[in-house]
Amino acid sequence: MIGNLNHVALVVDDLDAAVDNWQNMLGATVSEPQPLPEHGVTVVFIDLPNTRIELLEPLGDGSPVSRFLEKHTGGGMHHICLEVTDIIAARDELIEKGARILGNGEPKIGAHGNPVIFMHPSNFHGTLIELEEVQAS
Ligand code: CO
Repeated sequence: MIGNLNHVALVVDDLDAAVDNWQNMLGATVSEPQPLPEHGVTVVFIDLPNTRIELLEPLGDGSPVSRFLEKHTGGGMHHICLEVTDIIAARDELIEKGARILGNGEPKIGAHGNPVIFMHPSNFHGTLIELEEVQAS
């Protein structure tokens, strides 16, 4: 079912300071911040040769990332994102196999303009997994 690792997402409590660290300590190329009000986050992308890192900062009231920061002071790893070619087929197969999909189960449009769903962390021993539909190239 799954393809490439699309990204690893890290929550940070101070996006400017985090971007500064990635740029100046690691020499990373970091995108401009992109607000995603529908997801309650501001995100930047760090492109690596084989995948991406995303840094997430809470945006607005009731951001899911704010709750994460209450439990993980300063920030931490939030989720990994795996690519699938057909998100509806993947979702239906996962539900069939007993997985729990977060929200109403319908894909939302994610940071890269592609449909995404999230699986409940209890399915994968504590790790939140995002699936993103990426057309096979
Ligand atoms: Co993500």
